[in-house]
Amino acid sequence: MYSEKVMEHFEHPRNVGEIPDASGTGTVGNAKCGDIMKMDIKVENDVITDVKFKTFGCCAAIATSSMATEMVKGKSIDEALQLTNKAVAEALDGLPPVKMHCSLLAEQAIHAAVEDYQKKHPKE
Ligand code: FES
Repeated sequence: MYSEKVMEHFEHPRNVGEIPDASGTGTVGNAKCGDIMKMDIKVENDVITDVKFKTFGCCAAIATSSMATEMVKGKSIDEALQLTNKAVAEALDGLPPVKMHCSLLAEQAIHAAVEDYQKKHPKE
């Protein structure tokens, strides 16, 4: 059912944890399954220098969180806002159609963390 890449990220997720002095935090949940994803980002000069996640969810949610953190690390906050769940799923060699909604959590959590950062650091 899952690609090798999904299984690999599920078994060895990257960037698990929390950033105590995070620049922005986003927590999102899926009302249907009850799964929750939290993303912390560290931002310096509008670049995401570190990102960590905690996901209480299914295999696809964990694999997409892991891949999403890898995709935004070192990117500008504007680039991170352009991250889509489709791009995350493609980077994992696809997800079963019934599991596509899980990848939405990763997109939403990254966006929420960046928006939290922007709220806390308004541009002059
Ligand atoms: Fe809930 Fe996958 S089933 S995020």
